Amino acid sequence: MRIAIIGFGNIGKYLGKWIMNDPFFELRYVVDAKELNEEDIDFKNQSIRFRKEITSELINDVDMIIECANKDVVTQLLQFDEIDRKGMKLIIISTGGLYQNQVSLKKLQNCEIIIPVGAIAGLDAIKAVNDEITSIKLKTTKHPNSLEGAPFFDGSAIDLASITTTQTIWEGDVNEAVNLFPKNINVAASIYFASKCEDLKIEIVADPNASSNMHEITCEGDFGKIYTRTENKPSPANPKTSFLAVKSVVSILRNMNSTIQIN
Ligand SMILES: NC(=O)c1ccc[n+]([C@@H]2O[C@H](COP(=O)([O-])OP(=O)(O)OC[C@H]3O[C@@H](n4cnc5c(N)ncnc54)[C@H](O)[C@@H]3O)[C@@H](O)[C@H]2O)c1
Repeated sequence: MRIAIIGFGNIGKYLGKWIMNDPFFELRYVVDAKELNEEDIDFKNQSIRFRKEITSELINDVDMIIECANKDVVTQLLQFDEIDRKGMKLIIISTGGLYQNQVSLKKLQNCEIIIPVGAIAGLDAIKAVNDEITSIKLKTTKHPNSLEGAPFFDGSAIDLASITTTQTIWEGDVNEAVNLFPKNINVAASIYFASKCEDLKIEIVADPNASSNMHEITCEGDFGKIYTRTENKPSPANPKTSFLAVKSVVSILRNMNSTIQIN
């Protein structure tokens, strides 16, 4: 299976190494706006084609595209008619980009869009009961340092540096979170797609004693109650990315070549 990785940062490089070691896959293209650096010598020595941007020719020359760049790249990708062909698989990790492009998404008829579970547990169960849900909530707890830079703070009196006890910073819906907490939106958007619930509630909590990024999902309905809590440690190469998110894409790739599928 011929693959293009779009976005060759923390997640992309981990996946690149994994793919190169599996004979079932061929890493044909890597697309990144930046140059490779000295540490990327393993990749430079391979027959991978490096590109600075996505092109129609590249899309036509692969069977699978793995997006691990950002939500704007998802917007770009969805503008290419060439992606919508039978057999084409698109693994999208920046799911906030899918949320923002639902009109384009609905027009797709032939390709397969795959959403990894990313940095959370429970999407499988939520998807299974998504026609029975009466309420669903995501509570994300992070160290105040991890929330720095979110546009929400531009218009807020909250001073992250002075937080000494656990504090709810914001509550709202996915639509608002796209603009106010864009870095938290992937998890929320993934839950949105699994649950199909427009009234998914989101709470962002700052905890000065937090040593991980924690996501708690509470989902209720006639089926009962699903509660999941995921405490994410960063991946070895990048303190900003949860290792589970990286591993969840590897799990999809492994599944493609496995007799037993767990969905
Ligand atoms: N779904 C989830 O639960 C989940 C969890 C963690 C991360 N993510 C998302 O995964 C994505 C990648 O994460 P990461 O830690 O690898 O980020 P990263 O910053 O390490 O890497 C992103 C790479 O994309 C490249 N890039 C930026 N704009 C580009 C463009 N226009 N064309 C090509 N390349 C471009 C950057 O140069 C960079 O190398 C982010 O959007 C992040 O928010 C999702």
